Amino acid sequence: MANTPGFYVFEGLDGSGKSTLTRRLLDLLQSKDVPAICFAEPTRYESGIYLRKFLSGEIELSPEKQIEAFLADREVSLQRNILPSLSEKKIVLLDRYMYSTAAYQSGENFSAREILEKNIERKFPKPEIVFYLDLKPEEALSRLKVRDTTADRFETISALQKIYKAYEEILPKNTIRLDANLSPESIAELALNHIDY
Ligand code: TYD
Repeated sequence: MANTPGFYVFEGLDGSGKSTLTRRLLDLLQSKDVPAICFAEPTRYESGIYLRKFLSGEIELSPEKQIEAFLADREVSLQRNILPSLSEKKIVLLDRYMYSTAAYQSGENFSAREILEKNIERKFPKPEIVFYLDLKPEEALSRLKVRDTTADRFETISALQKIYKAYEEILPKNTIRLDANLSPESIAELALNHIDY
């Protein structure tokens, strides 16, 4: 399946700076009058709110149910956010996509590759580019500790190490790796060079 022009995805460990990068890029594009929009997964719709309950530890889900729930929310994300914006010719910047499910939900029951395959089977469109903010698990954890929020379930060193390794197994060829230790301004400038507008 071909990559989708105008569709850009941001991936990385919690604390790697994805959200800052997507926001900065959106500002940069809009300051140049380029039509652009950003979204995140999990979504803000019902299916995403349900996932936030799982992430905060309020509810438990089996590995299989977790994958199903993230795929269901992705379907909503595509139908309600991503596809309508792409058809309006906007550049879509998406904070987390199928590579997150592959990396985060992988484990004893399902490999990262198997999970990625489940996404591909659903015919979820492939982005033009995946930007991967590369940050070592130890560094991610120390950044998360200074954040003023309660920890999500994946914010432990063993979970982050598993996720880091899983990303390495599944990131596609069209991935641009960015060093998350650079300044936010430099990271945004580097990423902007790869966006076709
Ligand atoms: P994110 O919004 O990046 O974190 P926060 O808003 O807390 O800074 O992501 C929320 C969490 O969801 C993050 O720990 C990764 C997890 N996640 C999965 O486990 N699987 C997925 O498919 C997605 C999209 C996110």
